[in-house]
Amino acid sequence: MDKLIINGNIPLQGEIRISGAKNAALPIIAASLLTSAPVRLSNIPHLHDVTTIISLLGQMGVSLTLDERFNIEVNASDVNCFHAPYELVRTMRASILVLGPLLGRFGEANVSLPGGCAIGTRPVDQHLKGLRAMGAEIEVENGYIKAKAKKKLQGATIVMDIITVTGTENIMMAGVLASGQTIIHNAAREPEVEDLANYLNALGAKITGAGTSTIVIDGVKELQSGSYQVLPDRIETGTYLIAAAITRGKVKLKNTRPDILESVLLKLEEAGADISTGADWISLDMKGNRPRAVNFSTAPFPAFPTDMQAQMMALNTVAEGTGIITETIFENRFMHVQELQRMGAQIALKGNTAICTGIEHLTGAQTMATDLRASASLVLAGLAARGETSVARIYHIDRGYECIEEKLTQLGARIHRSPGNA
Ligand code: EPU
Repeated sequence: MDKLIINGNIPLQGEIRISGAKNAALPIIAASLLTSAPVRLSNIPHLHDVTTIISLLGQMGVSLTLDERFNIEVNASDVNCFHAPYELVRTMRASILVLGPLLGRFGEANVSLPGGCAIGTRPVDQHLKGLRAMGAEIEVENGYIKAKAKKKLQGATIVMDIITVTGTENIMMAGVLASGQTIIHNAAREPEVEDLANYLNALGAKITGAGTSTIVIDGVKELQSGSYQVLPDRIETGTYLIAAAITRGKVKLKNTRPDILESVLLKLEEAGADISTGADWISLDMKGNRPRAVNFSTAPFPAFPTDMQAQMMALNTVAEGTGIITETIFENRFMHVQELQRMGAQIALKGNTAICTGIEHLTGAQTMATDLRASASLVLAGLAARGETSVARIYHIDRGYECIEEKLTQLGARIHRSPGNA
């Protein structure tokens, strides 16, 4: 398995373009199951998870044609299988996103139950509760969610017990072709949920309120053809901003959106970064200064995202002062702590809180990625550290960061991929 090798302690400088958002592209591709008309998607990131969802839809009989720029034409006119096998779902939990669209259009779905995951148990009870309220009959048998709707799904009023991103997306997709009105209270407000709603509306759906905590879906008979450009990846954006901050550098990120990243931008300003923004770009300049430690708790959008927690912790490891980080979304999302400690980081864990006292310099070490965002934090730490850092098991990073070593090289980092055994 490949490793990333980083020779750190170089201030990053330059400009790069941000890719389309993984967590918008996945539900948008899955939602294409809702129409028999061809659709065209652009700004799809070239990522392992995207390849997985393409394979999954391909197995169902959907035709997906990619051009050289990774634009995708999807044609779901001949779906002949409603099955998402364990082999694929276990490699990507987001495969659960086919459940809502399959039930909504075909009244049938057989989707492997995603197992636990490195960052938490991650149940899907809220997805099932919502779909049952819409009339689906659901059994969990032999590790599979077996769902059937005898007649069309019926619109329903659903109050989510917990804010869930893919849960909100699954119910929203199921509601698009249901008869009558579906209302989701306590819905996730993440920009990716709103992007999915915008896409579905572009195909003729009637969804209002996406981006707020109450989403109303008026069922329509069918969706039409259309084209859609996926929104920029706010987590990739935040990761590269931290890459500049942790190395005391200066970068400009293009093709992105500052308005969907406010909590992170504010924390970076608190850390001492000078930030400027335009409609589709963000620049960050540390003016050569050491960052200051920041405190934060993760919470659903618009609060600080759990998907940026590990990267911001890497920044705290070399910052001036002590930063306190509380993770409230996932119960086991501190796997990067032990790896950062191997590079000299001073972090104490107390339950779901990490107390990090910044040191002047990390030192390069051999490290191992445990999940996607944890691996990003190790790369960031490696960029700041003196000496060589290796990050093993980088298949995790390839799930969510398009061309990471090319982009970092463009910013002046010394980083390369090497074949390894771990
Ligand atoms: N939860 C339940 N029951 C449910 C659903 C969720 O208890 O039925 C709990 C989860 O266990 C978790 C919390 O609710 O404690 C929030 O989980 P959520 O359902 O919102 O997470 P998700 O939809 O599975 C998406 C992203 C994650 C991101 C989370 C939180 C996608 C494909 N994935 O996951 O992204 O961390 O929302 O923002 O959109 C990543 O990109 O690295 C990543 C893990």
